[in-house]
Amino acid sequence: MDKKIETLRSKQEEALLGGGLTRIESQHKKGKLTARERLHFLLDEGSFEEIGMLVTHRSTDFGMEKEKYPGDGVVTGYGTVNGRLVYVFSQDFTVFGGSLSETHAEKICKIMDLALKNGAPVIGLNDSGGARIQEGVVSLGGYADIFYKNTLASGVVPQISAIMGPCAGGAVYSPAITDFVLMVENTSYMFVTGPNVVKTVTHEEVSSEELGGASAHSTKSGVTHFACTNEIEAINHIKELLSYMPQNCEENTPFRVYETADESRPQLNRIIPANNSQPYDIREVIAELTDEDSFLEVHKNFAENIVVGFARLAGRSIGIVANQPAFLAGVLDINSSVKGARFVRFCDSFNIPLLVLEDVPGFLPGTDQEWNAIITNGAKLLYAFCEATVPRITVITRKAYGGAYDVMNSKHIGADMNYAWPSAEIAVMGAKGAAEIIFKRDIMAAEDPNARWLEKEKEYSDIFANPYRAAERGFIDEVIEPAETRKKLIKAFKMLENKVVNNPRKKHGNIPL
Ligand code: HXC
Repeated sequence: MDKKIETLRSKQEEALLGGGLTRIESQHKKGKLTARERLHFLLDEGSFEEIGMLVTHRSTDFGMEKEKYPGDGVVTGYGTVNGRLVYVFSQDFTVFGGSLSETHAEKICKIMDLALKNGAPVIGLNDSGGARIQEGVVSLGGYADIFYKNTLASGVVPQISAIMGPCAGGAVYSPAITDFVLMVENTSYMFVTGPNVVKTVTHEEVSSEELGGASAHSTKSGVTHFACTNEIEAINHIKELLSYMPQNCEENTPFRVYETADESRPQLNRIIPANNSQPYDIREVIAELTDEDSFLEVHKNFAENIVVGFARLAGRSIGIVANQPAFLAGVLDINSSVKGARFVRFCDSFNIPLLVLEDVPGFLPGTDQEWNAIITNGAKLLYAFCEATVPRITVITRKAYGGAYDVMNSKHIGADMNYAWPSAEIAVMGAKGAAEIIFKRDIMAAEDPNARWLEKEKEYSDIFANPYRAAERGFIDEVIEPAETRKKLIKAFKMLENKVVNNPRKKHGNIPL
């Protein structure tokens, strides 16, 4: 028995060392942690249980049978984050560049199956050169198995992907199917085809960082939701993200003990500028409305005309979707619609109530938007709100014009409570444009057309640039003093706590992709 235990110990030791000490040092030299160090920082101390530590690959071509490392380039298992169960895999770049072999894929699929059966999030720490080149089609099959499981798990358990190194080829599609992607600046990148292929095909010269680094994907493509300055920051972001989410789609969101206090926020009465074309930062409104320092912004640097993120309201997790008047006047365009839609769908999948703050002049006009399908993309946001069954509340802080009024969680598409501040303007379009169209003949016939235009603009504005027409119809439930908003929201979300809505039975809807 002693001999057998000795063998087990030496195998475990070999597995723990991965590809050997020098390889671990090489990882550190690149400014990266090792697979096990990442898990150490992510999971509660002593909580990690490894699964499949002694798995090795089955490949025999290219002399591979002589080069086997226990674990085969990925550490998998389960543990806890702040006491809550999570399943994890962490790719080990020191073993064949973290490349995905048949057995490496099987290990990942195994923990995903466990996560699905037991209803807990999956966290993937990716650091991989993609499909194991020596294995050919079986490694491609392994990727496809993972994509399939990612898709089945989507909407059942939260899935989070942190990109901690290269992520090339098909390897990017698993993270892309998951709910949130985090990247680390300067040490991680994601692309379908790398700079060399790009150069051959399009003759563009571009570095890995420019093509697929954290900055490109957090600002230009929106592929990543968080760009982190280092791996520890990325790991802390994962923990924070998890704190807002339930373990699975059957659970309610986690709740933090909250002591009721004075909930009025007088500062909000002074936030809307006197001139309605002047910007203000919607984040200031969010900060006043939500529990102190509880806002975690998602997709911060992408499509900044809409702000989305998680927060707590009297201890409860909520998702916030807010137009940002400080960027492009808060207009809805393709990117902001897609960003908003994706966030709404995540919240709805996982029972996270939605708060919408609305100040939107409409959809962005122009050939660029039309030819790139603002119609289809804007419809994504509309569709996402329409099908959401979680508690939904809207506060119109200022402009709610045109189709954007309908889209931004209006009462008509299923919102539960719609409030407006006295500064709200709810109309088909802005007064200037409206006056020009409907009083065109009158203006042109006038002795002083400009003066007449201004007069008609004021007339239109007096009738529609307020929330009272909508409130008379019941489209707005209450016009409230901004200072009272937090109080109202706390009560209304509590009132909606047991909301049940059953949309018509169907296989699945056909969101305009
Ligand atoms: C096998 C690999 C590997 C791979 C890297 N290695 N990628 N082994 N299969 N895919 C090995 C290297 O041979 C090397 O082994 C070690 O990992 C470290 O790699 P380096 O190149 O020395 O590291 P670095 O300079 O940091 O470059 C990392 C890299 C590069 C950018 C990831 O290795 C690279 O370009 N790899 C190939 C990427 C790729 O094209 N993958 C296939 C994508 S297609 P030694 O023994 O020397 O340490 C794909 C299809 C999936 O994934 C389809 C699904 C739909």
